[in-house]
Amino acid sequence: MKLQDLVPFLCIFFTITTAQTTIQPGTTLSASNPNQTWSSPNNTFYVGFSQVDSSSSYTLTINYNGGVPIWRAGNSTTTVDSEGSFQFLSSGNLRLLNGSGATVWESNTAGRGVTTASLYEFGNLVLKNGTSPVWSSFDNPSDTIVPNQTLRVDQVLRSGSYSFRFLSSGNLTLKWNDSIEYWNQGNASINANLSSPTLGVQPTGILSIFSAAFTSGPHVVAYSNDYGDVGTRLRFLKLDEDGNFKMYGTDMGSKTPAIVWSALTDQCEVFGYCGNMGICSYNESSSSPICDCPSENFEPVDVNDSRQGCKRKAEIDSCAGNTTMLEIDNAKFLTYEPELSSQIFYMGISACRSNCLSQGSACIASTSLSDGTGQCYAKPPGFISGYQNPALPSTSYVKVCAPALPNPPPGVLTVEKSRSGRFGFWVVCVAVVITLLALIALESGLWWWCCRNSPKFDSLSAQYALLEYASGAPVQFSYKELQRSTKEFKEKLGAGGFGAVYKGVLANKEVVAVKQLEGIEQGEKQFRMEEQPSQRPMMGKVVQMLEGIAEIERPPAPKAITESSTSGTSIMSSNVSALSTFAASAPAPSSSSSFQTMGVSPSASGRNIERASSSLLHSDPN
Ligand SMILES: *[C@@H]1O[C@H](CO)[C@@H](O)[C@H](O)[C@H]1NC(C)=O
Ligand SMILES: *[C@@H]1O[C@H](CO)[C@@H](O)[C@H](O)[C@H]1NC(C)=O
Ligand SMILES: *[C@@H]1O[C@H](CO)[C@@H](O)[C@H](O)[C@H]1NC(C)=O
Ligand SMILES: *[C@@H]1O[C@H](CO)[C@@H](O)[C@H](O)[C@H]1NC(C)=O
Ligand SMILES: *[C@@H]1O[C@H](CO)[C@@H](O)[C@H](O)[C@H]1NC(C)=O
Ligand SMILES: *[C@@H]1O[C@H](CO)[C@@H](O)[C@H](O)[C@H]1NC(C)=O
Ligand SMILES: *[C@@H]1O[C@H](CO)[C@@H](O)[C@H](O)[C@H]1NC(C)=O
Ligand SMILES: *[C@@H]1O[C@H](CO)[C@@H](O)[C@H](O)[C@H]1NC(C)=O
Ligand SMILES: *[C@@H]1O[C@H](CO)[C@@H](O)[C@H](O)[C@H]1NC(C)=O
Ligand SMILES: *[C@@H]1O[C@H](CO)[C@@H](O)[C@H](O)[C@H]1NC(C)=O
Ligand SMILES: *[C@@H]1O[C@H](CO)[C@@H](O)[C@H](O)[C@H]1NC(C)=O
Ligand SMILES: *[C@@H]1O[C@H](CO)[C@@H](O)[C@H](O)[C@H]1NC(C)=O
Repeated sequence: MKLQDLVPFLCIFFTITTAQTTIQPGTTLSASNPNQTWSSPNNTFYVGFSQVDSSSSYTLTINYNGGVPIWRAGNSTTTVDSEGSFQFLSSGNLRLLNGSGATVWESNTAGRGVTTASLYEFGNLVLKNGTSPVWSSFDNPSDTIVPNQTLRVDQVLRSGSYSFRFLSSGNLTLKWNDSIEYWNQGNASINANLSSPTLGVQPTGILSIFSAAFTSGPHVVAYSNDYGDVGTRLRFLKLDEDGNFKMYGTDMGSKTPAIVWSALTDQCEVFGYCGNMGICSYNESSSSPICDCPSENFEPVDVNDSRQGCKRKAEIDSCAGNTTMLEIDNAKFLTYEPELSSQIFYMGISACRSNCLSQGSACIASTSLSDGTGQCYAKPPGFISGYQNPALPSTSYVKVCAPALPNPPPGVLTVEKSRSGRFGFWVVCVAVVITLLALIALESGLWWWCCRNSPKFDSLSAQYALLEYASGAPVQFSYKELQRSTKEFKEKLGAGGFGAVYKGVLANKEVVAVKQLEGIEQGEKQFRMEEQPSQRPMMGKVVQMLEGIAEIERPPAPKAITESSTSGTSIMSSNVSALSTFAASAPAPSSSSSFQTMGVSPSASGRNIERASSSLLHSDPN
């Protein structure tokens, strides 16, 4: 039931005067009824339950119209079941209860004179003692900052193990586990103690530092890629669960905000993104990073969530004295302050490996940066976060129980990969093998037929040539074979710089040009019809052609040959064939001369000759 239904007069009164909706003590929202919400006067924002993915868990959030959350009660683990409820008690406390009646979150404002709760048009939920605010969602941010809301230096945004802070120096920082600082960005020109600076996003999409010290307006930290247009577009800052600090842009009514700026451009540099011992990397087929284990000495903690990290199959304590260093190329173990100073050593790559190996349990991994600094990180036992990228010059080592079992090279599926992936892989393998076997059987059958039935050879050979032609491979003819298959290419069409050109007719009535080629070894002939592979018939079609099901396709007329005479031109324009057989030095072909039926592009001939010599047909029935 909507609040407005309960207190319509009050709502209208406040809507008109102060652009806020007032919620009276005793009002309750139920997780089971998604229609129950507390909306701001113009429905720009609303308070309500949202379902977590498609599970039976719900969170209590303030949302931008459309459902994009900008605040949540509690942290990312604070959820209730469908019997949960959100109550504004007459004591002045706001409380989130789960189905069993246990309090999972509260505002702790009981007994502070709170009489009303109000949701403002710009997204702030405020508890007031008559006139003064006692508690507000803007003052108790979860992971998001919207325009009109600012972050002070004593406030923290949190998401899982990650936290974002704004320092009095004007720097912005990101930390993991409140300890490892993996991002710190400042500007030397304002790196000083500012008087009560705040961080916020301007409605136009500009991340800014506000301070009375800046006389010429806010200091710009970053522009979003969509900055400028306001309209009903909401820009907000969010510390994402992936540990990156981002700005999003979303239109009213939309459920899918777009990333318009992010603090770290390389997600893999976020400490712990892939969990303990996880290795972060990228591949072509996915835009977000992928998480893997360092080697097959490890297994995922949770096979369904690769970001949970990896664990050793055999602990190194269990194999003392028989450990080795597993090598991972183009990889580093992330090392940030405050670890940086204590874990840096200056040594070469082999010392970086062997020192860690000889240190017993004090060192479990090392990275030789190999970036010119001469630095080596020696990692003591604890949380380790890896990053592998072909662009990284570094080499890393992990101590494992012998023997080291490196991951298979990329593209080869590992044991950790999903079964469906393996299944798909085997289906492809079987399909390839069957196809190969079918082709071999077809070719053997054809050859057997040829040899047994030699009078048929010439026409078959032409068809066989088509088969090879379709596959793009060069095809050879014996002179006799060519003679027969082209009805003896008796008719001399003309002569050009390359010698005489004869007209031949294939069994399928296709007209071809025949030209003897110079400098070809005896008996070696080649046959090619078209330059563009796309103009070759598909394999299946060729088989149909051989079986007489489909009509033999004719490749389109090729480009004119520059060196050929008018007769050459007439051949090309004569309806039919791109087949041209170049004959050369010996004007009268003999059974031992060599012939090639070639594509007309002269530049391709050298290549084709080369190909011919490596793909001779060995069986010549004549
Ligand atoms: C609410 O919407 C009306 C009509 O569109 C507009 O005149 C008014 O300024 C809006 N109020 C606020 C607080 O945005
Ligand atoms: C919520 O509202 C929609 C449309 O107004 C309605 O179809 C649906 O039954 C309502 N759900 C509940 C639980 O009241
Ligand atoms: C409610 O929360 C309590 C304490 O957090 C927990 O023990 C209980 O299992 C929860 N009940 C439900 C139904 O989620
Ligand atoms: C509300 O709180 C403010 C600050 O705590 C206090 O000064 C004021 O007297 C309170 N008002 C009421 C009506 O209690
Ligand atoms: C919110 O922003 C509006 C205009 O953008 C401004 O008038 C108002 O004072 C701001 N409110 C607060 C609490 O900052
Ligand atoms: C979430 O909040 C609860 C209660 O305040 C706290 O016990 C828990 O550690 C928090 N979880 C995270 C991941 O911060
Ligand atoms: C996080 O930090 C706390 C205290 O600084 C430490 O005890 C804990 O071991 C750390 N967690 C991990 C996973 O390293
Ligand atoms: C702030 O950032 C600058 C440059 O990024 C850096 O040199 C400085 O040490 C940082 N200051 C603090 C207090 O983190
Ligand atoms: C640092 O701040 C000054 C003054 O706002 C600005 O002119 C300069 O471009 C900023 N430098 C960087 C690297 O952002
Ligand atoms: C800022 O103030 C703190 C405490 O007042 C002081 O320790 C620090 O040195 C100051 N930093 C600068 C850059 O003035
Ligand atoms: C070390 O482990 C390997 C593999 O398990 C084994 O073959 C080898 O014998 C072991 N060596 C020693 C000294 O234990
Ligand atoms: C890229 O990553 C996706 C998702 O993990 C995976 O399915 C795919 O096999 C990977 N591709 C390569 C070439 O490794």
